[in-house]
Amino acid sequence: MCGILGYSGDRQASGILLAGLERLEYRGYDSAGIAVLSGGKIKVAKNKGRLKVLEDRINSGEEVSGTCGIGHTRWATHGEPSDVNAHPLWSDDMTVVLVHNGIVENYRELREKLSQKGYTFYSQTDTEAAVKLIDYYYKQEHNPLKAITRAIKDIEGSYCFVMLFKDCPDEVWGARKDLPLIAGQGKDESFLASDVSAILHDTRDVYYLDNMEIVRLKKGDVRFFDGEGYATHKEISTVTWDSNAAEKGGFEHFMMKEIHEQARAVKDTFGAVYHSGKIDLTEKGLDDEAIKNISQIYIVACGSAYHAGAVAQYVIEDLTKIPVRIEMASEFRYRNMPMDKNALAVIISQSGETADTLAAMRRAKENGIKTLGIVNVVGSTIAREADSVFYTMAGPEIAVATTKAYSAQLVACYALAVKFAQVRGTLDDGECARLIEEIQSLPGKIDEILDERGSLEELAKRFVNAKNAFYLGRNIDYAVAMEGSLKMKEISYLHSEAIAAGEMKHGPISLIERGMLVTGIITQKNLYLKTASNMLEAKSRGGFILVVSMRGCEALKDEADFVFHVPETDCHFSASLSVIPLQLLGYYVAVARKLDVDKPRNLAKSVTVE
Ligand code: F6R
Repeated sequence: MCGILGYSGDRQASGILLAGLERLEYRGYDSAGIAVLSGGKIKVAKNKGRLKVLEDRINSGEEVSGTCGIGHTRWATHGEPSDVNAHPLWSDDMTVVLVHNGIVENYRELREKLSQKGYTFYSQTDTEAAVKLIDYYYKQEHNPLKAITRAIKDIEGSYCFVMLFKDCPDEVWGARKDLPLIAGQGKDESFLASDVSAILHDTRDVYYLDNMEIVRLKKGDVRFFDGEGYATHKEISTVTWDSNAAEKGGFEHFMMKEIHEQARAVKDTFGAVYHSGKIDLTEKGLDDEAIKNISQIYIVACGSAYHAGAVAQYVIEDLTKIPVRIEMASEFRYRNMPMDKNALAVIISQSGETADTLAAMRRAKENGIKTLGIVNVVGSTIAREADSVFYTMAGPEIAVATTKAYSAQLVACYALAVKFAQVRGTLDDGECARLIEEIQSLPGKIDEILDERGSLEELAKRFVNAKNAFYLGRNIDYAVAMEGSLKMKEISYLHSEAIAAGEMKHGPISLIERGMLVTGIITQKNLYLKTASNMLEAKSRGGFILVVSMRGCEALKDEADFVFHVPETDCHFSASLSVIPLQLLGYYVAVARKLDVDKPRNLAKSVTVE
């Protein structure tokens, strides 16, 4: 989604904004722009297309001089990607210039009202209504804070606004509702950013803005105000993420680098709750009493995080006997489902900002349900609003297609499952100790699989021109099939479907053609033969049969066109291993097709709109 930056200090703003926007490129965007305030005038440069086009046009920033400015990468929602619709947008006489992430839902109504007051509109964006509304109040109040507080009362929807006022030298203003905004504090300079990775090279001292909060930067001075305009006090936090973690480190793509970071992500995430031979969740708000009282678990998430939750559903249910429902956040938020007051809602999100996931979590809270966030980004909205948070330790994830955060989410869920089982007595101590050992052995096994990636690279070349693929599995293997299929389609644009193996005969089988890739995930011993027979049905209709199974599994060894064995593990944790070849296959097909693996078309890293 859109990337946002603000800077006030002694250095030239344009260079800092361009460099910061470059670090936000991974979020996905279709146009870029900056605005710089100098000598009572605001100069704007923006265009459709890559940041590089903008950089060249303004001679790497030299044409736009000044030490106070704002920047934006746009992911179009209202109005096609174009020079005109690119941000920043301005008020009619350039008094206020603004960048925006989010959606002004009542923009038509606001445009109508402002048109009656004499404003004209030049873009198709919802954002233009916001900048003109702020300008309208500013002309009455002659005070940015008063103008912003009045305007946000009229605006419906979600927003992160960052603004310049031409009469306010050195000042950058920001306001947020339901979308992230972070203020960074340096020496004699300060920053605003939608994502901490944009400013990590300049400062690690940051403030996380609360919902409906307003901020003003003036060189090194950062001030905060509530929605009524009263000053508020905030504590500074220090970001511990390694800024090099957001570099490619010798890999061709971030995705491949992150695939290789999975063993570490899994180890660190489990290590965060495993101390002196025990899983301890008390810091996550889950002491033994709380665990015993859980009557039901709702796991709520989107996309790959949902797929991690789907694995967790099987694992937690089987180990703990607690009923678990996996729910898509975008559906859950609008359902009138009777909810059990003693339930626990587990909210899974890498970014901690996904609009649907956040709304679903708020819905669970309104229903009096305790919420636990499994979140990667420290200080993100879900992390701060959940009753408690279990941070995954994946570190910054840059590639749009998630890999290491998904793997870290899985292991966080395994930790919950084993601990709940132990406290509720569904497993004895010996069995828990054995499962913990299995979890601890996963990182080494993940690395073993990566060592065998060459065979998948070769295999991928066969599917350069493929049109369709199926991924089949049952139980945990079905949940992994969903993730494998998503990895394939989102980066290689090869249409692919995940099918619960038993469902194939009920319709999808009609799509199988000669040579079509049909991948079967076969790791659940009690279901080997079931899925194997569904794969044979695909083979007899001409499908190319790829089997991902555990060492020692003989299923389809003679019939499959290609078999990839992952090391053996307890079947509850097989997803952590079987997903790796599927990530690699998606990656290699995309590379063979010469696609932009890290920034697939139409996708954004953090989906902050509905
Ligand atoms: C797929 C992918 C997305 C995200 C989804 C949820 O590779 O990355 O499907 O998993 O958009 O995002 P988070 O986890 O940030 O809530």
